Amino acid sequence: MTITVRKGNLIDEKADLLVLNLFAGEKLGGAVEAVNAKLDGLVDTIAKEDQFKAALGTTLSIRTGGAIPAKRLLIVGLGDKKKFSEETVRVAAAASLNVAKSIGAKTVVSVLHGAGGGEYAARLCGKAIAEGVLLADYEYGRYKKESPKKSPTSFSIVTTDGKKARFAAEGAKLGETYAQATILARDLVNTPPSHMVPADLVEAAKAIAKASPGMKIRVFNRAQLAKMGAGGLLGIAKGSEHEPFLVHMTYRPANATTKTKSIALVGKAVTFDSGGLSLKPANSMETMKCDMAGAAAVIGAFSVIAELAPNAEVHGIFGAVENMPSGTAVRPGDVLTIMNGKTMEIKNTDAEGRVTLADTLTYAARLKPNAIIDLATLTGACVVALGEEITGLMSNDDALALKVETAAKSAGELMWRMPLPEEYKELIKTDIADYKNDAPRWGGSLTAGLLLQEFVNGIPWVHLDIAGPAFAEHPVNPYTRKGATGHAVRTLLEYLRAL
Ligand code: BES
Ligand code: MN
Ligand code: ZN
Repeated sequence: MTITVRKGNLIDEKADLLVLNLFAGEKLGGAVEAVNAKLDGLVDTIAKEDQFKAALGTTLSIRTGGAIPAKRLLIVGLGDKKKFSEETVRVAAAASLNVAKSIGAKTVVSVLHGAGGGEYAARLCGKAIAEGVLLADYEYGRYKKESPKKSPTSFSIVTTDGKKARFAAEGAKLGETYAQATILARDLVNTPPSHMVPADLVEAAKAIAKASPGMKIRVFNRAQLAKMGAGGLLGIAKGSEHEPFLVHMTYRPANATTKTKSIALVGKAVTFDSGGLSLKPANSMETMKCDMAGAAAVIGAFSVIAELAPNAEVHGIFGAVENMPSGTAVRPGDVLTIMNGKTMEIKNTDAEGRVTLADTLTYAARLKPNAIIDLATLTGACVVALGEEITGLMSNDDALALKVETAAKSAGELMWRMPLPEEYKELIKTDIADYKNDAPRWGGSLTAGLLLQEFVNGIPWVHLDIAGPAFAEHPVNPYTRKGATGHAVRTLLEYLRAL
C-alpha cells in the first residue's frame, strides 16, 4: 500500500472509498456537506436513520450510486472537537483503513483529518494518518497459510490547499518511518520463541546495523561475558540450551563533535521467560515470548535511526538470554556477581529481568551517556497497578522524565510516572549478599525499579516498565490489534527527534 498526499478536490476524486469526517455534535459542513448536496441529502438521512453520532472511530458507509466519482463514501467520527489531538487522527485514519480492508477497497482517498488547523497541524496530521493507516494494516502472517485480508493498493490524502498538502506529505513520510520501526518491533515480538532465541535477536540487530549508515555493532558471546564478569546474564542463561549474548549498537551522527550528547537505550531481552526453576503457571507462560519486547523496541528504533538522524550519539544495548528450568539452571538461593562487582541473591528465578538488566545497565553506565532509558517487560505488578495499556515510568531525574512523558504524549502511548521511594530500599536488601532479586508482592514494580537504579551509577535515567502494553491480549484500538504492539518505539523516536 502506498500512501500519497496531493492537492485536489475530494468531491471529484475517483476511488473505491472516499473518506470524510465529522466531529460529534456538529452539523454537516465542508466536503461532507458538498457531497451530501450531490447525493440529495442522503448523508443526512442515513446519519439520522443509523443514529450516527460521530463518536471517535465510528463510521458510516454509504453507496454513492454514481452521484460522485467515488463508489462509496465513508464518514468517520472524530468525537468531541475539544478533545482533538494527533491521537484522534491516528484512530480515525485507522478506522477508515479497517473498513477499506473489510469491504475490499483497492483505492482509498481520504480527507486530511485536522486540515482545519494551520500548516504545523497539517504536518502532524499527515504523520498521524500514515501511522494510523500502516499500523492498522499490520498483521503477523508468517505462519498462516491463508493470506491475510488484502490491503488497499493506494491510500491518498487529498486537500485543496497546496501548501498544507506539502506539509502533510512531509508528515506522512515521517509517519511511515515511525510505523515501519513499530512494525519491526511487532514482528520480532510476535515471532515464536523457538525462532527468536538470543542468537536470532543478535541477527536481527546485525541486519539493521548492516543496512544503516553511521551504525556500528559489537556482540559479546559467553566467553567474553565471562571475562567482563557479567554474572547476572550468565547466571540467568545457565538453564537454557541457547547461548547468551550482549549486543551494543552505536549510531553516530556524521557531524558529531566532542560536545554531541549521547543517549543509551537499554532493552530487556529475555527471549522466553518460563520463570526458570521458579516455574510460571502454564497460563502466565503463554505470552512470555513477549519478554524481549524492550530489546525489540530498541532494535525497531535503531532500524530507522539513520533516517531520523537525531542530534545525538545513540547506543542501543541488550543482553539476550532465555530463562529456562533445567539441571544446570540457577537456583533460588544462589548468589550471582554482577559486572560492577555487586552480589545478588536469587530468591526467585522468575525475577530474572532485573538480574540481566543489572549487567546491561552497568555496561551502559560505563559509556557515561548523558541519559539512559531502559525498556523492560519487568513486572506483573505494574500491570496490576496501571492495567494493560499504561507503561510505568520511573526515574531519578525530573527533567528527563518530563521529556520522555512529553514524547509519549505525542506518540499516543500511555505512560504514568511512579515513585522510587528511598524508604523501600530496605526491601531489596538481604543478609547474605548486597541485594536480592525478589521483594514482597506489594509495590513490586517500585522495588524492581529501585534495584535497577543501583546500577545506573547516578546517570539521569528513565525506566519504562512495559509489561502491560507490550503485548495485547485484546485489541487495544483501531490500529493496535491483538499480539505485539510495538509499544514505546514511537516514544523513543519522538524523544530522539526532539534532542
Ligand atoms: N517477564 C515477567 C513480567 C511480565 C509479567 C511481563 C506479565 C509481561 C506480562 C517477569 O520476569 C516476571 O516474571 N516478574 C515476576 C517478578 C516476581 C517473581 C518478583 C512477576 O511479575 O510476577
Ligand atoms: Mn520472570
Ligand atoms: Zn521476565
